[in-house]
Amino acid sequence: MKCFYLTTAIDYANGSPHLGHAYEKILADAIVRAKRLEGVPCHFLTGLDEHGQKVQETAERLGQDPQFLCDATAEEFKGMCGHMEVAYDDYVRTTELRHKKVVRNILQLLSEKGEIYRTAYCGLYSVRAERFVQEKDRVGGQWPEDFGEVVELREENYFFRLGKYQDWLVDFLQKNSDFIYPAYRQKQVLEFLKEPLNDLCISRPKSRLRWGIELPFDGDYVTYVWFDALINYISAVGYGTESFVNFWPADMHVIGKDILAPAHAVYWPIMLHAVGLPPPRHLLVHGWWLARGGAKMSKSEGNAVRPMDYAAAYGPDAFRYFVLREMNVGQDSNFSHELFVARYRSDLANDLGNLLSRLVSMMNRYCGGNIPPPEIQGDSEKDLKILAERSIANVRKRCSAYDFAGALEEVLSLIRATNRYLERREPWKLAKGGSEEQIFLQICLGAGAECLRISAELLFPAMPAAAERILAQLGVERTGDWRTLAWDNAPAGRKTGERAILFPPIEEEGNALPAVPA
Ligand code: ME8
Ligand code: MG
Repeated sequence: MKCFYLTTAIDYANGSPHLGHAYEKILADAIVRAKRLEGVPCHFLTGLDEHGQKVQETAERLGQDPQFLCDATAEEFKGMCGHMEVAYDDYVRTTELRHKKVVRNILQLLSEKGEIYRTAYCGLYSVRAERFVQEKDRVGGQWPEDFGEVVELREENYFFRLGKYQDWLVDFLQKNSDFIYPAYRQKQVLEFLKEPLNDLCISRPKSRLRWGIELPFDGDYVTYVWFDALINYISAVGYGTESFVNFWPADMHVIGKDILAPAHAVYWPIMLHAVGLPPPRHLLVHGWWLARGGAKMSKSEGNAVRPMDYAAAYGPDAFRYFVLREMNVGQDSNFSHELFVARYRSDLANDLGNLLSRLVSMMNRYCGGNIPPPEIQGDSEKDLKILAERSIANVRKRCSAYDFAGALEEVLSLIRATNRYLERREPWKLAKGGSEEQIFLQICLGAGAECLRISAELLFPAMPAAAERILAQLGVERTGDWRTLAWDNAPAGRKTGERAILFPPIEEEGNALPAVPA
């Protein structure tokens, strides 16, 4: 049966993972977790892009064998995923045999179909972008930053007949207006396609680049790294074998905006079409994390935030929460330590952490650790129930639209409303009252615990470990299915679990967390 097949970009193996890499994998992971909560079987692929100029140069600079460098980098990137709770189903490396075989098969097939030809080319070449560029690529007379050095180059190469598919691609984009998300990016691609499309140079002479997949029909050349890398999306799911139909077409490629056009929106659909395969269903294009001063965070700029430092200091869930809450998918976002600390304190330690710790300690103190069932007594409980059920519906809707910032804000609103409810009902005062107050106390704690249970279920895609730990303190297992999540459908007769502080206060300059009565 066809599953929901989601991929991320495969990261270049020429440096350590930074915030941009971590974010993309976390976003993809959250999408897959939310899908699974809707009962959809998924396959989640990520991986490493190991060939090409950049990797060769980095290896030379370090005096290392490129494969040795890639092996070490692969461990580092996989380790990053592990620490960030990114639960991929498969990790593809472009130096793996399963990948190289498919790349060669595709090249052979396209060559036999007459889609590839050899010719001399003289032009301007960007070392950093690893492609030939044109005068029209200049912006205000200057080469764009990400081109690095641009040099003149003449050589014989192999070309893929990209240009002849231009009309097909325009037609495809016009008929499938939801191919690229956000939609305005699709319009940009159509704009880009108003200029004639050149054929794509898909080879590099070994004299210039050794670190690549050899062309099956000419041993003096290796494959251009983008032509090689894009094929990971099909090589990893068994292109050419029977099981391939369970995966292809991919439902979603999650990528950053810098690699949309031409790579994913032009080369890739055309390559697939030339091979006789349908394009992927959707491209989800996220923006950039910017460093102070508005520059793109990147290895080459040396201004990158190290995601592992954050996960180590504050826990992976706090980091995941921050990036998913802070970035609107598609737009750029700033990262600063101050922003991170402010969100941690207000949303996690204060709103969520306090709700959990005050509820569990009151249920321990006043109810002997028994969690009261959520009974509807007065209007405030009724309102809370309506709010909780509306939150379930809204979070499901927002997650299915990849709006995690909105979904998390939705859950936090429920959490804040529950805190306000407790402050109004003052269960710590009810506990001192007579038998009627004792009944109200039970009702109040039951309603509060139910809101927190629902919140934890809804936080799972963003904060898997924290969600499970909250639920454990509320004496339940995660239901794992949002379709049946509702007010009062948790098992009765539950006991509180062992207390634990999920988000300890950050002992840094600035205000400490205000004490909350419990
Ligand atoms: O482009 N903010 O690899 P890569 C957000 N190997 N996302 C960012 C970012 C930032 N500051 N910097 C990078 C490549 N990314 C190719 C992909 S796919 C067949 C081959 C994102 O390591 C970037 O947009 O430079 C891309 O989606 C991913 O990280 C890998 O970038
Ligand atoms: Mg890059």
